[in-house]
Amino acid sequence: MKYFLDSAMIEEIEHAYEHWGIDGVTTNPKHILSSGKPFLAVIREIAAVFRGVRFPISVEVDPHLSGVEEITSAAAKLAAISENFVVKVACTEQGLSAARRLKRDGIATNITLVFSPAQAIQAGRIGARFVSPFVGWKETNGEECDTFIKEVTTIYRNYAFETEIIVAAVRNARHIVDAAVSGAHIVTAGFAVYKDSFAHPFTDHGLDVFTRSWDETEAAFDG
Ligand code: E4P
Repeated sequence: MKYFLDSAMIEEIEHAYEHWGIDGVTTNPKHILSSGKPFLAVIREIAAVFRGVRFPISVEVDPHLSGVEEITSAAAKLAAISENFVVKVACTEQGLSAARRLKRDGIATNITLVFSPAQAIQAGRIGARFVSPFVGWKETNGEECDTFIKEVTTIYRNYAFETEIIVAAVRNARHIVDAAVSGAHIVTAGFAVYKDSFAHPFTDHGLDVFTRSWDETEAAFDG
């Protein structure tokens, strides 16, 4: 399973790449805002970190744009900045149409803001590079997500869609595990979510027990 980091913070991205072996980055306008830098500056900075390395970086097309032509041309401009850029396009009729055109022009897209299996089907049919079903937002809205992701993964297997499923808006380790059990290709989560997922209180407790035993053995045989 691939891990993408959902962030626009350079320090987080560098740390997660070097120490955790993340496989890609996803950004969105909220992450750009949190980075405290202008949009183009921050996406160029992320691109520079991975110059010469094949590493998918999802960048969102201006969400003001709603026409097929304007989405297509703005996405093409973004894609021209870095060969690693995958343009995030919202799952609307126009966004999906733009994504079809972009695919014909060799530009990879990530169909984002996906909240139903039916939306995910069209992303797979048009051959988008990625589809991003959001679990965290649905759960906040009181919706159950396990079935959602299981249906999307089953449908994609049934039809051998090439589009890779990124389970997005992942809030905790349980979401990561559920996505893995469903057979989703990728999860994208924030820095703290991954960090927490690597730890367990029993691991810390076990280290205490083993350290004390080690020290007692050393003390018993000292000299
Ligand atoms: C995915 O590509 C999105 O950037 C992300 O998961 C959105 O969710 P969040 O910013 O609320 O975590």
